[in-house]
Formats: sequence, C-alpha cells, structure tokens
Amino acid sequence: MKHFEISEHAAHRHDDDICTNESNNPTLQSMVDARLSRREVLVGGLGAAAAFTAGGAGLLASPEAKALPAGFTLSFNPVAKSLADAVSVPAGYSVTVLTPTGEALTPSTPAYVGDGSESGDSYAFRSGDHHDGMYYFGLSSDGSRPDPRNSRRGLLCVNHENITQPFLHANGATVVGGVRTVADEVIKEMNAHGVSITELVPGPSRAVPVAFNRNSRFNRRITSLTDMVLSGPVAGDPQLVTRYSPNGTRTRGTVNNCANGFTPWGTYLTCEENWAFYFRRSGTDNASRTPAEVTALNRYGLTQGAAGNYGWTTVIPQDPNDTRFSRWDATVTGATAADDFRNAPNTFGWIVEIDPYDPTSTPRKRTAMARFFHEGAWPANFVAGRPLVYYMGCDSRGEYIYKFVSTAVLDPRDLTRSDRLAVGDKYLDSGTLYVARFDATGTGSWIPLVFGSNGLDPNNAIYPFSSQADVLLHARLAADSVGATKMDRPEWAAVNRVNGEVYFTLTNNSARGVGAGPVVDAANPRSYSDQKGAVTQRGNVNGHIIRFRETGNNAAATSFRWDIFGFGAEAGSDPATVNLSGLTDVNDFSSPDGLWFGRETNDSNGLLWIQTDDGAYTDVSNCMLLAAVPGKVGDGGAVTINGQQTFVGAKASESRLRRFLVGPKGCEITGLDSTPDGRVLFVNIQHPGENTPAAQIGNPAAYESHFPDGGLSRPRSATLAIVRDDFGIVGL
Ligand code: FEO
Ligand code: CA
Ligand code: CA
Repeated sequence: MKHFEISEHAAHRHDDDICTNESNNPTLQSMVDARLSRREVLVGGLGAAAAFTAGGAGLLASPEAKALPAGFTLSFNPVAKSLADAVSVPAGYSVTVLTPTGEALTPSTPAYVGDGSESGDSYAFRSGDHHDGMYYFGLSSDGSRPDPRNSRRGLLCVNHENITQPFLHANGATVVGGVRTVADEVIKEMNAHGVSITELVPGPSRAVPVAFNRNSRFNRRITSLTDMVLSGPVAGDPQLVTRYSPNGTRTRGTVNNCANGFTPWGTYLTCEENWAFYFRRSGTDNASRTPAEVTALNRYGLTQGAAGNYGWTTVIPQDPNDTRFSRWDATVTGATAADDFRNAPNTFGWIVEIDPYDPTSTPRKRTAMARFFHEGAWPANFVAGRPLVYYMGCDSRGEYIYKFVSTAVLDPRDLTRSDRLAVGDKYLDSGTLYVARFDATGTGSWIPLVFGSNGLDPNNAIYPFSSQADVLLHARLAADSVGATKMDRPEWAAVNRVNGEVYFTLTNNSARGVGAGPVVDAANPRSYSDQKGAVTQRGNVNGHIIRFRETGNNAAATSFRWDIFGFGAEAGSDPATVNLSGLTDVNDFSSPDGLWFGRETNDSNGLLWIQTDDGAYTDVSNCMLLAAVPGKVGDGGAVTINGQQTFVGAKASESRLRRFLVGPKGCEITGLDSTPDGRVLFVNIQHPGENTPAAQIGNPAAYESHFPDGGLSRPRSATLAIVRDDFGIVGL
C-alpha cells in the first residue's frame, strides 16, 4: 500500500437521510428467454453499430462482454483502513488530480486562487464543487467527432452535487439578519452546482496518462441557472407552469446532481436528487393550496415553512425583474401560476439528458422517467429490437427502486446519429414506469405505474391522480399506492454485462426497525445498534447491496429473483446478526453508495467496484473504494436474522473482496468510470474537509483537510485518474 500525501499533488453536506414516506426461481433454461429471437443481439455503446452483427451469440451479454477468467482472484495489495488526510492506493498504482473545485475551464477565466475571492459569474466557467457521478465519452484523435473507443482523448462529464459553502467564499457566507446580502456569493453557489464537461487529452507520461485541455471547445458548465427544456409526457402540464415558462415547457437549471447514467447514442444523463430542499415555502402556504397539492408537497419533503438551502431566496436583487433568487421560493404569491414560482419544484426531480459533443445544445429533462429523488439511471444491456431499460433509485429512507422501459425498441442505426437529443426524444420520452416489490420468497415483481390501473385514478385514497402526467409527477405517491417495498435508501445500481444481473446499494437506514420507521423485511432484514464513540447508532447502520436477476434475463420482465450480495459491517461485529458476509479488516466497509462494473470494452468487465459515503464507521476509517468478484444471484442461501428470513449471497473472502483506495478526511468516495480500455480509472473525491466549522474559515490550521493542494490550502473536491505503473488494466 502506498500513501499519496496531499502535498504531493499539485453548509454542510446533507446526508440524504430524509424520510417522508409514512405510507420463481428461473431455471438455466429460462435464462434464455424464448421471446428473444435468435437474431437479436446485445450491443455496446455509441458507435457499436459496427459490432452489431447478426448471429445468435450474446443473448445474455454484449458481444464484447468478457467474464473474468474462471477462478479469478484479486491480486492487488489491499489498502488498510486509514484516517490520514491522504489518498491511499495499492503499491504499483499512481494518482493524478483533475479539475478540482474552482479550476478555470477556459483560457480567459482567471486562475483559481484558493482564497474564496473568485467571482460568482466566473464559476460558470470553473469546475463546480462536490464532484459526483461521471462518465467518459471518447473523442476521435483529432478531436473532431465522437469515438467511443478512444481512451486517449475524451470528454469527462462530472456532476457537481452540492457545495461546501464556507470554503467557496472569502470569509464563509455573508448573512446579515438572516439575509444573504452579497448576491455574488449566491450566484457563485448556484454556478458551483450542476455538471461540468471537460476534455481530456494525453498526459505527459505513463504515470500521468491524461491531462485537462483548457483550450477545448467542448469545455462547458451546466449550472443551476442554465436554460433547459422539459420534454416528455409532463411537459406543458399546468402543474409545470411558472413565471419563467408560462406554457410549462422550460425551466432554469439543474441542482443536486447525484449519480448519473448514459445512453448508447452518446449522451449523458444527470439525476436530480435532493432538489426539494433548495426551495422555500412560507409558513402559511398550505392555505393557498389544494389538499392534493399539500399531500404532494409534503410527500416530496417540501412542507410549508421550509427555509430553502443556503437562503438563496433571501437575496434582494437590484433589478426587481431578476428572478434568479425568487424562483427558489415556491410560495403562492401571484394571481396565477404564471405569475410566481409555486410550481418551480415540479420542474426538478427529473433525469436530464445532456449532449456532451454539442456545446450549444440545450439539456432536456426527461419527464417520462418520473419525478422523485433520483440517485442515477443505469441501463440494462442494450439489445437490438428490444426496449431500453433504465434502473433508478430514489434515495431517501424507506423509498423505492424503479425501472423505465422505453416504448421504442432499439434500432442500432440510431446509435451513430448526430442529432443525439432527438434520438433521446424517441427513446426517453415514452415508456412504462415500474416500481419494485421484493417478496419474502426471494422473488419480486415490477408493478406498472400507469394511470387508470392499479387504483391510480381520481378515486385513489392517497392522492387523486388526474392523468399519466400526474402519476409521473407524483411517482412516490403512485408507488405508495401499489404496495412497493420501502428500501434502505437506494443509491447506485450497476448491471453485470456478463449475465445481466442488477446490483443496488442500500446505503443505510437509521429508521429501519426503529420507532415509527419501517419494520425489517426480507430485502431489508437488519436492524441493530452500533457504537460510534459515545453515540449509539441504530437501524441498518452499515447498509447492504441487493441484487436481482430478471426472469428470463429479459430486462423488461415483470418479475425477478433476488438475494443480498453483501452486508456492510465492522469486521468485529456479530457474524450472526450484523457481519453476515464475513468481512475482515481487509474488506470491511460501511454505507455502500457508488457501484460500478468495469466497462465491457476491457477485461475488467466482470469486476464490481463499491464506494462508500459513510458516517457510521468514520471513527475508524475515511471513506473507501473496494473491488469485488461478484458471483451471481443464488450462490448463497437462506439465512434467518433475529427471526427475519432473507437470502444472502456467498460469503466474502479476502481474494474476492478487498479495499483498493481510502480517501482524505471528511470526503465521500463517489463517481466512478474508466477509459474504455480500463487503464485509467476515474474516481471522485467529494467534500474533503466538510466537517470544518464555518467559523474556522481564515484559520487554515483548523481545516479538516487540505486535499488536494496540501499545505494550508482550502480543501477541494476533485477527480482522481488512477493508473497502474505498468499501465495494465486497473484492478486486474
Ligand atoms: Fe447523492 Fe444519494 O447520494
Ligand atoms: Ca462502530
Ligand atoms: Ca450517492
């Protein structure tokens, strides 16, 4: 193991932990679904049309998907748990830092100084804060066109989920009598959210294989101020009408972009997670609302009296027609919805499609994929002639797992079209939304959320649904109505390209089996207590990873079989009730969040990577990244935990699950992708030093972290590019 001390490198985050939800074993034969004709094949990403050849091979996997060799075991030196303010990776690996917070993304933007003096407007051309989900899109060697196979030149799309507010400003946020008196600071905060697109080119050496190209025409920021199109079934609905868009077809910006997704035609999907908490509502707003509106606002966490994150609405603009601040106030103030921003919250909570290859394109919010607290959108294997399927989690305590099945079936000719957002219109604006129910038998069902069926109609006792648009807008309420399973905070998913199995992290749930919280069930079977110093933590403290196999290995199936791949736990915890996966010091972890399989374009395809965003075990170790050899659904068996039966995968072993990286102090480890050849692994360090009290700004010795610049610098979120010193495939 090797430590990269930080000096070698040139409002507090919200932990998503919000609860507003008060409410047949397939045979080997059935894995080859008879409904898939022999001529149908799975295809890879953009440009894979070349690989789309007729033939029966690949019903279960991409033509390129390679399983790990039989008997494969992990061979890198596992990294020890650490509380150091450093990035630790195995011996034989090197780390480069890319585009940390505030980095200038254009040649005309002043260089980052690091004292909070950068202007708010300049942040529209700087790397944002809180790097999260990301995806690498290859460019041709001359930079002129998409080339998804090129690992030496590409565009890295990175979400900027949130901000560590004190470090953005010279002396922390300026607040006088509860009012944000410096508008520029608030503009900076809005611009530090969103997405960045940056071009990567070959670096100076094998150890530094990629470098950021500041001169690229593709470098772009999308922020909480960027104009966007509302597309799909909810676009134009009266509930989307605002002063900004009286016909309900546009909105400004994206916010709290957590995890992500991609399409096979070369676009990026960014997902709006804890957006509701950016909005204010007056303490008496319910009186101006219908009962249905109040039900919906409450279910989405926007109760009356909500203050709104960071006090953005308190700015008094010089120009009374400047609505950049008031648009975050959802209080009814005008005569009609076109006179205020009462409906602005309905324009958030979506999946946003961005064309990284067209810097002038306008992002489109895909309303067919429903509105909730989107963690990410993970595609099933792409099968020509079959619908596209995306798996999606809603990350709050006791929320649900969903999937979207497109109406259009995949035509490989669409994958190389240059009108990429129009292709998105075809596949992502029409489809069927499902929510998952996990049954005690180890099977599960996908329940369609379709207006007029399953009680989703005006007579529904929970919420009077008026249309399919209303169902999509209020998917949480629709899911409540049909008996979906309340999960322990669904975070990332990952699809094993080799066998189509879907993995989901359930990061933790402090309410599981506690007080009025949901009782344990087969799919969320643990509730226990754990000490962190003097604090007793309860519920599902350390989280778990569930997985499922769709019936017939058909991603559009309406049933599946599941088991629990692994349980987070401290190595020393009780093996019968907590450490059911048999974790040791080499691989124990807590609060799994990011999840990713190596790309199918290289030999690490079958390797599963697990990242943590933890607060439960951080007295022992900073957050981490682990690699796993995943096995398959059903490779373990039934287990009973304190009377609750569940199904658990094969126990972990140190050769099949081990720690690869530990991050600096105060960070979460998130955002995972690689170049198509697997030789450069991208990992995001989010909010290092976030536990620094705002009052300590100006006292650098008290900063919790100085990552990545070292010395007495302010900490910055950043992307890591990790390579093996022999430039082999990372992790193998
Ligand atoms: Fe943004 Fe659910 O983590
Ligand atoms: Ca503990
Ligand atoms: Ca997350």
